This record gives sequence, C-alpha cells and structure tokens, in this order.
Amino acid sequence: PHQPRINPSILAADFVNMQADLARIAGADFVHVDVMDNHFVPNLTFGPQMVQRIQDTSPVPLDVHLMIDDPDRWAPAYAELGAASVTFHLEAANEPVALARRLRAIGARAGLAVKPMTPVESLFDILDDVDQILVMTVEPGFGGQSFMPETMPKLRRLADEARRRDSSVWLQVDGGISASTIAQAAEAGADTFVAGSAVFGADDPEQAIAALRRTAAG
Ligand code: DX5
Ligand code: ZN
Repeated sequence: PHQPRINPSILAADFVNMQADLARIAGADFVHVDVMDNHFVPNLTFGPQMVQRIQDTSPVPLDVHLMIDDPDRWAPAYAELGAASVTFHLEAANEPVALARRLRAIGARAGLAVKPMTPVESLFDILDDVDQILVMTVEPGFGGQSFMPETMPKLRRLADEARRRDSSVWLQVDGGISASTIAQAAEAGADTFVAGSAVFGADDPEQAIAALRRTAAG
C-alpha cells in the first residue's frame, strides 16, 4: 500500500500566525482545513476568503473538511479556489452523489465524511462516486478530544468493502489521532490521518509528522 498520508489540521495552529505555522508543516502530505459554520457543529472557524489565502500560502495542497449545513450550496467554491480535496458530511448533504460529481468535475478529489454514530452502510451506495471517505473518530466541532475506538469496527467494514470492490478510495480518520492511537486506525484500514494537536502541539511539527507516518506504517 501507499505510505501513510499525514494531514495536519490547522484548527490547532495559531490563527494570527497562519503563514508561519503553515511553513512548519512543509513535510506533510496535505494541510487539513476545518470549515465550521456554527450550525452543523457548535463552533465557528472561517470561510472561503480565509481558505483562499491559505491556498495562496500553503506549501502543501489543501484537504478541506466542511462541517457545514447545505454543502450542496457552499462546497463547490472550495473546489474552485483550488483545494486538492473537498470533503462534506453525508449527514448534511441533500444530493451527495450529485455534489461529489460536481466537485470532481471542477477538478477536486471528492470526499465524504461521517460522524461517529452514522452507520457506514449508508456510504456503500456512493462509494464509487467519491475519492476519499472520512470516518470521524471524535464528534466533529473541536480539536483536542479523545479518540473513539468504538469507530474502528466501522472503518474495518468500510475497508473490507473497498477491497471487495477493488476500489482505490482513500480512508481517512480525524480526531484524537496521536502516536498512541494512530496504529490501531492504520490496522483497521485507514491510510490518511488528520492530526491537529499531535502535530501543532509538538515542539517540532516536522518531526511529529515523520514519527506519525512511521508509526502508521507499522
Ligand atoms: C474536529 C476536526 C479535526 C480536529 C482534530 O472536528 O475535524 O480536524 O482539528 O484535532 P485533534 O487532532 O486535536 O483531535
Ligand atoms: Zn477535520
């Protein structure tokens, strides 16, 4: 398999020193950008104008995670500004297949996210229309929460189904990923790992990224 991808989440960065913090993760695969609207989740971050500046400034491609209502309406703008991938929540989308196709047509990887309690079988119908699936390993909304191991059977079922279909879909986990939790997520089938506090909370973010990648590779 591909070497594990590590996507640091800038939710844990310093919002008024974003350019400097982006420069500290140049060895990452993607930068994970959490967009929150205070409706889908009880927290608020930033919108397309800020994400455009991150796109202009980041040394690595953008992996945008939309925790917003009505992604059908708002998601395409993030693909248009050049994000490498745009992930929206299944729980929030009205027409997930149509939206995924639209994101792909604009040139982004289409991603579909599910909250910890959302059954994974609800994804099977749309699996072939997306490039990556994000299994949330915490309730979305905040950084620094504890990894939920009870989401691992779901990830395993998804990985089995992807293998059965010979699918090249990427399986991503997000929430509480650290040196002590990343191995179990990798073992359950994840290949792409979002880490906020574990990267930006480290003295040396580049070293933390390399260490996470090594641990995930087993
Ligand atoms: C949570 C966000 C995550 C968050 C992860 O809703 O989607 O991307 O930044 O932060 P950590 O790695 O600190 O759990
Ligand atoms: Zn996220």
